[in-house]
Amino acid sequence: MSGREAGTREAGNGAEPGAAAASHAAGIAPEVLEEVAAEIGTPAYVYDGRALDAGVRRWTEAVPPEDILYSVKANSNLSVLRRLASHGIGLEAGTWGEYARARRSGVPSDRVTLGGVPKDETTVRSVLKAGVGLAVFQAEGEVEAAARHADPGRPTPAGVRVLPGIRAGAHPSLETGAADAKFGFAPDEVPAVWRRLAETPGLEPTTLAVHLGSGLDDAAPYVTALDLLLDVAGELGGHGPAVRALDVGGGLGVDYEAGDAEGDPDPGELARRLRRRMEERAGEEAPRLRFEPGRSVCARAGVVLTRVQYGRERGGRPALVCDAGYSDFPRHVLYGAHHDIGPIRGEGRGPADVAVLGPTCESGDVLGVGRSLHGVEADDLLVVRDAGAYGFVMASNYNSRPRPPEVLVDGDDWRPIRDRESLDDLWRGETKHLLDD
Ligand SMILES: Cc1ncc(COP(=O)(O)O)c(C=O)c1O
Repeated sequence: MSGREAGTREAGNGAEPGAAAASHAAGIAPEVLEEVAAEIGTPAYVYDGRALDAGVRRWTEAVPPEDILYSVKANSNLSVLRRLASHGIGLEAGTWGEYARARRSGVPSDRVTLGGVPKDETTVRSVLKAGVGLAVFQAEGEVEAAARHADPGRPTPAGVRVLPGIRAGAHPSLETGAADAKFGFAPDEVPAVWRRLAETPGLEPTTLAVHLGSGLDDAAPYVTALDLLLDVAGELGGHGPAVRALDVGGGLGVDYEAGDAEGDPDPGELARRLRRRMEERAGEEAPRLRFEPGRSVCARAGVVLTRVQYGRERGGRPALVCDAGYSDFPRHVLYGAHHDIGPIRGEGRGPADVAVLGPTCESGDVLGVGRSLHGVEADDLLVVRDAGAYGFVMASNYNSRPRPPEVLVDGDDWRPIRDRESLDDLWRGETKHLLDD
């Protein structure tokens, strides 16, 4: 299966097959990366604006923009959101914070969907009050919270997330549609929920939603999920208004093992397969088909720029210790994900046995293993590629390391879109609690 995170964690510094180093970050000139490193330092996240545009366009060429809801969790930088939304697409926000980011980036409330992820009452209340294009509910408590806070004078379109019982996703942590997953209502629970929404002043059920998981490389599970949604929609007659939209979620993967997007799962192919199925089953009465892509939009557009601190050999294995680590980019550690790592100019060379390590105080602080990076020395700049999705958003302050800055590049121009955190950022909210004794 292409587009996979490794299904199991890779152990320590063992060699990783097929791990040839890439030369530099696609779309971002080495000179620009050098300038960024010189002016704002490393580590830094660097995004290629044109690659972000290309990532959206792969979707807008296949699906009307109003039916695409970019999933904010993948990369929620305000400037990135604004850039992506400039293509006319909507945004899917799973939390109050993501909703607030979507709005702060300039996207109007009717283009934001509150996604079908677990939400507390404060989130439901705040979002309904602020206004939202669609609110998807996935648990009883959320529906009841919505009933308490919905405004009959300004009805909110509502969706129900269905748990399809389909196992799909590139890593066990990323499977969200299996029968034992915590998300959504079982199909036989949906009619009662739909009726409850229909009977609640201020809520208008319109949409059935699923999200199967992340890192899918194949349309087949989506077709199965669509069939299920159509079955459920068919059973809702008499329980409230007809279903107007089916939202098949996000999840389309990226082939991290390949150096470019050429072999990535194709949104166009996915949209065509699902539309064909919809026509076969629902004909002219077919509901709208909506998508919530995250990773497939922005993963290819970003790199982590890092400087090698020093090289060393341990137990006969060469390693490079860099100034970016798993607190900056945890995907290898969390999912065993493979990302190309290479010098900003030229190719890495030699046997694929070099480990790329971070600076924090854990042996498990690994960015990648088994790389052809002989000849790379202290002070050299490396890029960890395809880091535009689930990168910065998953960074932490472990070891009291300020989180890195983010930069947006357009050709030869670049500008910071988030500052490196300062020491004050590190202890914000703590100093006022310091005792004087
Ligand atoms: C409800 C929902 N929609 C969309 C997405 C985006 O998924 P991906 O980035 O894999 O496309 C997620 C990711 O977890 C999600 O939970």
